[in-house]
Amino acid sequence: MNSRTNGERDAVKNNARNLAPIPLSKKPAAESFYPNRSVPGGAGKTACIRTFGCQMNVHDSDRMRRMIRDAGYAEVGRYEDADLIVLNTCYVRENAVDRVRGHLGEINRLKREGRVKKVALTGCIGAAQESQELERQYGVDLVLGTHNTYELAEFVGLPGMEETYTPELPGTEGEHSAFVTIMTGCNYQCSYCVVPSVRGRMVCRPMENVVEEIRRLVSSGTRYVTLLGQTVDAWRESGQRFCDLLGRVAEEAPRVWFTTSHPSNMEDRTLRLIGEKDTIVKRLHLPVQSGSDRMLKVMHRGYKSERYRRKIEVFREAAPDGTLSTDIIVGHPGETEGDHEETLRLVEDCSFDSAYVFKFSPRRGTEAAGLSDTVPEDVSQRRFVEVLRAVEQNAFRRNQRKIGSVEEIYVRHGRHGGGRNGEVGKAVGETWSGHAVHVPTDAEPGRYVTAKIEGAGPHVLYAGDPSGPPR
Ligand code: 5AD
Ligand code: SF4
Repeated sequence: MNSRTNGERDAVKNNARNLAPIPLSKKPAAESFYPNRSVPGGAGKTACIRTFGCQMNVHDSDRMRRMIRDAGYAEVGRYEDADLIVLNTCYVRENAVDRVRGHLGEINRLKREGRVKKVALTGCIGAAQESQELERQYGVDLVLGTHNTYELAEFVGLPGMEETYTPELPGTEGEHSAFVTIMTGCNYQCSYCVVPSVRGRMVCRPMENVVEEIRRLVSSGTRYVTLLGQTVDAWRESGQRFCDLLGRVAEEAPRVWFTTSHPSNMEDRTLRLIGEKDTIVKRLHLPVQSGSDRMLKVMHRGYKSERYRRKIEVFREAAPDGTLSTDIIVGHPGETEGDHEETLRLVEDCSFDSAYVFKFSPRRGTEAAGLSDTVPEDVSQRRFVEVLRAVEQNAFRRNQRKIGSVEEIYVRHGRHGGGRNGEVGKAVGETWSGHAVHVPTDAEPGRYVTAKIEGAGPHVLYAGDPSGPPR
């Protein structure tokens, strides 16, 4: 007898689907996605989408938002007002899972009170084995991984949906800035990382599909395009590489950025292109993870710190005013005090403008989770603080140098409301060098203002009143 429940069988099916991505079509046509739209299954109902994790999840949530809206649901912000809740989740570190458990507990209570009808668990947790346990424990109605997002359509009342590679699903349009997925999955096997097991192997989206989507977005009003993928610089298609794609995109969109990259794939010509092309934001996110060659080897990163340093030199030369950020993990099993010092040295040498620093989190099924020479929590915590402090000191020094310069600033978020003491809030923008700036303007998101930098903290610049109207 098969002892699995239906839920378990479905979850297993979803996992299998998730690791076998759907073949790419060359024909993205937003109109044909929902063939039976005449009877929207969600009319009169409400839905709430909550997103955890990276930009890729934010973008996937946008595709689900589009489906839910097309199905006739009205979007609400609070769980207690929603008939349907979608939790789009992250699995990269254990604290992300803990957060989702907390939300599921709360939602389960609302469901038992009859206030919430259905809950869907999607994204990276949905693709992991652990989703089976969560499904049972919290009465989840639908579990989806990252490759079968299209199945949500049927669930929300848009029947007849075909199997579709997730990046080809349309998101909401008409926004001033938009993400465009150029590849999914990852072919690396970093010791600590769960991504390859939940997002599968790399699949590159055809250049023509990417360009066609960007044209559509630009003509619907998008002024800022961010190319997305786990290792965008690994993108390739019949002899063309990421640099070729970036060059093409930079001709189509008025402002372009990309994330995230891998030092082993990053070509010097891409770094030079960032400096050369006016439409590319001069901001590079290049995760290093550690400054110790010994640790880079244990992590299977595939490069030495010297190679990383050389890449940074090329970038700094190509875009002297540009910003550089990275990811660093402290406390990976086997990390010694000497390794940690090497990381601090690299932070000093590369003079990062910002960094995401993480304490190692053991993930079930990864190589590092099985290693025995673990680093005690208090040691990890101290190293975490030391790396963070070193990054902030560098960033603060670099930001101070921007004081007095006049910058063209892209408004990302408009001014909202007053501050705590009734003072007027500021808009948040971005310079062409990739610095975040607070600027006193009423300009709408997607417009540019020009203003002088008058102050600087470790994370943000402060501009004075803009000269002239927004453009
Ligand atoms: N523990 C801590 N940090 C991790 N990251 C990925 N997996 C782990 C883990 N198990 C970090 C890496 C990666 C970023 C997205 O998350 O620094 O670049
Ligand atoms: Fe994870 Fe390494 Fe792939 Fe990045 S390159 S997603 S850290 S396996």
